[in-house]
Amino acid sequence: MSSTKDVAVIIGSLRKESWSRKLALSMFGLASGDLKFEIVEIADVGLYNADLEEDPPKGWTVFRERIKRADAVLFVTPEYNRSVPGVLKNAIDVGSRPSKESAWFGKPGGIVSVTPGGLGAMAANHQLRQALVGVNVAAMPGPECYIAGVAGLFDESGKLNESTQGFLTKFMTAFEAWISANAVR
Ligand code: FNR
Repeated sequence: MSSTKDVAVIIGSLRKESWSRKLALSMFGLASGDLKFEIVEIADVGLYNADLEEDPPKGWTVFRERIKRADAVLFVTPEYNRSVPGVLKNAIDVGSRPSKESAWFGKPGGIVSVTPGGLGAMAANHQLRQALVGVNVAAMPGPECYIAGVAGLFDESGKLNESTQGFLTKFMTAFEAWISANAVR
């Protein structure tokens, strides 16, 4: 039986040149081959409106089914105004309904917050953690991952510097253990 785990990766930015996306892509190669990562796009999820639940939009159903299939979820997100970007919070809300069928329920999770600024997007990281409690995602408590000054971490060819790679490798090793310890299946 394969021990491969399917990790759904949610990027909290829709920007083409997003640092969060670049960092996420750089992280995938730092994990063991047993974790299979796929970015689950949230641009077309559509705004949550409970009135639409009778006949949910396709963007919702596709997103919900994809998250349900995942063994774990990894969030890589910037901070907007000391909080989680609205697009990311919306995706969490959409995935959480109908409440008895929440796509998130019981999944192990990881959080990486990213900013060109100096504070590591810590507010977004912790506010996301708080929302994940509400949808019963077990977010790995540590190592905490606050990536500050992200624009200076890549060289001209787009390669992440060695010390950041080293830290993120530790994060990925711990995340893999966290997924195994908190597996939903
Ligand atoms: C930001 N940015 C920002 N950065 C931060 O560290 N703390 C913050 O509270 C905010 N607030 C904020 C609000 C809004 C509306 C925008 C558009 C931006 C800056 C942000 O970190 C920067 O634009 C990143 O590059 C966004 O992430 P991506 O798109 O590069 O992944």
